[in-house]
Amino acid sequence: MKKLIVFYSFDGNTKLIAENIADEIGADLLELKPVKEITRNNFMKIFAGGKQAMTKAEPELLPFSIKPEDYDLIFIGTPVWAWTYAPALRTFFKQVKLVNKKIALFCCHGGRPRNFFEKFEEAVTGNTIVGKIEFKDPIRNQQDRDVQIARDWAKLIIGI
Ligand SMILES: Cc1cc2nc3c(=O)[nH]c(=O)nc-3n(C[C@H](O)[C@H](O)[C@H](O)COP(=O)(O)O)c2cc1C
Repeated sequence: MKKLIVFYSFDGNTKLIAENIADEIGADLLELKPVKEITRNNFMKIFAGGKQAMTKAEPELLPFSIKPEDYDLIFIGTPVWAWTYAPALRTFFKQVKLVNKKIALFCCHGGRPRNFFEKFEEAVTGNTIVGKIEFKDPIRNQQDRDVQIARDWAKLIIGI
């Protein structure tokens, strides 16, 4: 079974989880990178990114050579932005039509994800969701514990 982790990360939390899952189960990694990233200013980024997420913006992504269509099981990870997935993922879902895949969803958030997973699940209709998991700012909170939880979860998923 071919396994891929697709993710976007702005501050490194989702990247931490994505890289650990990939290492644990021997999956390929695809990091989505917008051509033009939002500001790094800690205060302004919430407005800039929040606006993009709320207006359903689809920022152009740097090209990638991996073909997600060729994989059987795809983990998709994102930070929660304005209670939904990051705009880079919106572009990804537009560019790549995933059907009949096994999909596992993961996210990092700051403690207020609200109905995030409803929207994330909607974006992958036509596939089978085999798992979902969330982490609260792992780098700042319980990094070692969350990394272990992510690794154990990924092992469980590949058994499904
Ligand atoms: C633009 C923006 C919007 C955010 N909106 C939310 C939100 O609606 N709910 C929440 O719990 N956290 C929110 N956060 C916090 C991030 O989801 C959280 O810090 C996450 O761990 C960041 O993941 P990353 O390090 O992979 O970028 C937001 C952060 C940014 C930058």
